[in-house]
Amino acid sequence: MKTLRTISELRAAIAPHRLDGKRIGLVPTMGYLHAGHASLIERAASECDLVITTVFVNPLQFAATEDLASYPRDEQGDADTASAAGADLFFLPSLDEMYPLGRDGVLTSVSVSDLSSVMEGASRPTHFAGMCTVVAKLFNIAGPCTAYFGKKDFQQLAIVKAMVRDLSFEVDVIGCGIRREADGLAMSSRNVYLTPEQRTAAPVLFAALCAAAQALSGGETSAEILRATMTDVINTQTLGQVEYLEIVDPITLGAVAQADLHSRFFGAVRFGSVRLIDNLDLTELDLTGLDLTGLDLTGLDPDASQPSAGA
Ligand code: PAF
Repeated sequence: MKTLRTISELRAAIAPHRLDGKRIGLVPTMGYLHAGHASLIERAASECDLVITTVFVNPLQFAATEDLASYPRDEQGDADTASAAGADLFFLPSLDEMYPLGRDGVLTSVSVSDLSSVMEGASRPTHFAGMCTVVAKLFNIAGPCTAYFGKKDFQQLAIVKAMVRDLSFEVDVIGCGIRREADGLAMSSRNVYLTPEQRTAAPVLFAALCAAAQALSGGETSAEILRATMTDVINTQTLGQVEYLEIVDPITLGAVAQADLHSRFFGAVRFGSVRLIDNLDLTELDLTGLDLTGLDLTGLDPDASQPSAGA
């Protein structure tokens, strides 16, 4: 695997492969790679001839109050993980290389309306424009390619797909399944910040999504009741504060009143300063491969899920 730090080096390294008609795979990341990222790189390596992994902690997608400065970084660990997973090129640009006039000197912003204002966008209003701007830049640097994104950031995936469609990027965007720890917690670079107690409580988010998906598969379609089911599960512990729990249409990301088989369950829960997100649909409930009967839903009062009259 070759490490490249400048845009011109990366373009020069890709060019001969493109001339040879090779299929180029791109896995954009912000580093601190874990098994979830590795699975994206492995998938790209199984489908493409040349795999580029990028690591850039993009300041444009962090608000002033967010964890940019403390975002975890591990250049050597990332290089080892990317190489073991099958990356050929490892692109590690500096801030100056990506934004020569600095963060405030970036005058262009790519934003995708509607999809960007709900869920994550409601509490992070500038996040998706910052994300889209850097992803558009990476697509422009890499050129036509197949790009791999994880479904843990399902909203991001939907927004990137919309951007590609609207702006005619020659990029195939592939969404890859969520990798989970044995207890169901979705893998995330931010999990390292959980205290042992928070880490023990954190799988409650996945448990909540599973409980609602199970209720839907059992015939309950009222989004109000399904949301209450999720809330009840989260309330079985005290460390996590719910930011949102939603049941949405997977294409428009709009909240639904009546769920159907295509509906997707989303949640964001804050454990201290660590904000975790996760999502699930019925197909993934089957695919988790986890023994869902083992989920600890003790203390959950099934009747508490019923909304009170007029609620
Ligand atoms: O998902 C991420 O890690 C980032 O949002 C991305 C897509 C690499 C853009 O900075």
